[in-house]
Amino acid sequence: MSEVRGSWGSKLGFILAASGSAIGLGNIVFFSSNAYKYGGGAFYVPYLAALFLIGIPVMILELGTGRLGRRSMPNAMFQLVGKRGELAGWFGAFNATLITMYYVAILGWILGMWVGSLGNLWQASAIENFGFASGELSNSMSYFFNMISSADPMIYVTLIWVANILIIIRGAKSIEAVVKVFVPLMWVMMIVLIIRGITLPGGLQGIFFLFTPDFSVMGDVGVWKGAFSQMFFTLSLGFGIMMAYASYLPRKNDDVLSATTISLLNCSFEYIAGLAIFSLLFAFAIAPKASSLSMIFFVVPEGIAAVPILAGTFGFLFFTLLLMAGLTSSVSLVEAVVLSMIDKFGIPRVKVLVGIFCVGLVGSLMFVLPIVVDPGLNNNGTLGFSLVDLFDHWAFGYGLLLCGLLEIIILGWLYDFDKLLDFINRDARVQLGAKFKFLVRYILPVVIISILTLSVIEEFQGGLYGNAMETGGFKGLHVIAFLGWIFFSVGGAILFTALKRQPDAEELS
Ligand code: PHE
Repeated sequence: MSEVRGSWGSKLGFILAASGSAIGLGNIVFFSSNAYKYGGGAFYVPYLAALFLIGIPVMILELGTGRLGRRSMPNAMFQLVGKRGELAGWFGAFNATLITMYYVAILGWILGMWVGSLGNLWQASAIENFGFASGELSNSMSYFFNMISSADPMIYVTLIWVANILIIIRGAKSIEAVVKVFVPLMWVMMIVLIIRGITLPGGLQGIFFLFTPDFSVMGDVGVWKGAFSQMFFTLSLGFGIMMAYASYLPRKNDDVLSATTISLLNCSFEYIAGLAIFSLLFAFAIAPKASSLSMIFFVVPEGIAAVPILAGTFGFLFFTLLLMAGLTSSVSLVEAVVLSMIDKFGIPRVKVLVGIFCVGLVGSLMFVLPIVVDPGLNNNGTLGFSLVDLFDHWAFGYGLLLCGLLEIIILGWLYDFDKLLDFINRDARVQLGAKFKFLVRYILPVVIISILTLSVIEEFQGGLYGNAMETGGFKGLHVIAFLGWIFFSVGGAILFTALKRQPDAEELS
């Protein structure tokens, strides 16, 4: 049967695919901007706490559940606890679909920057856009805004969707073939960028910034919240991505070892990405801005443009790296959703791929709508960019932690947790015992519920997110985004749970 559903060709293939999923834009862009925002070295204490407290344990659970159920999240959860579990699984899948839509949109813009890095990005733009005086915007910034306010990203986004579909066309097999090349290359490119960064005069200061702890910010709950949500995102947890990948594993696997390896590979990549980015920025005394997207789009290119020799080559390398890292992550998001449908409805892969391509592409195109709504660039510039900002707030800021919480409660409380532990322990060198059980059943829910509660309180203090955003003639966009997120993720989950399960879907795998 496994010929129909497929499986990884080797354990290494699995580790590369899972670490390829984990290592993405989150590692290169969001980590650095979080670290900057929360005082460099100070970010490490909460970050490491999050890695050991939440990251590795939840990764172990996801791998164990995927391998035990041999299904993607909604279907594995259905097997374990019935419809309630399935509902949580589809909630994860729909949030993942939404995130895929704008993750691909961001990748489309990155493809645009990659095209620019072949030449135009480094030259002063002839087009004066957004009413800024000449010289007021840096070259990379004006290139970026000219691009996103044009229709070109629509083509880029389509290309990225085609690439995603091609990579997952044969499931684990074709994913494995790609990650075997991309993931090692990503490490090589990142190492080249670090060497360039730290050998620049002043570059080492950036490293000191990352290493020097500023303990004064440790009392700030925002730092902890930042670190814990970042951990879920960077390790691709909560949406059942790792469950889907683990469902392709052979019967026997040391999940504790695999989870630790994947998590440590991911976090070391994140760390060295921080070294590369901060050394580049400090060498040229460029202060990163608060928004993480601006970090990729103008701040880092600004630093790269100032590299004395081969600036264009390093720029090209940087965007190639972002593209590869982003693609190996987006394919995991798409694959988890595709596999959920194959597992439940027994529809052939090709048909699911056609469907997801159409729906996903329309969604991604919405996020690159080039209509200028904010000519002063106070917030996001275009309608598409504003929508990314708004939907990210809900699907990432809340959806991810909510999915993680549901998953932990289902596994720890609704299912016979000892059964899962026994299953994991059977093949694991390091045995999980009562302490692990206590962590999963009590500590993790308390931590996640506290983070979510604090976020909601903050939310109410400032009004619904995005209410002060400049959105031109598009009034109430922030309300539409919030309702759209609820409707899509909760509505979609209810609908898909209610749909009839294909009886022979079980046989498929
Ligand atoms: N882990 C990926 C990153 O760091 C993003 C991602 C999140 C992928 C959730 C899959 C699921 O960019």
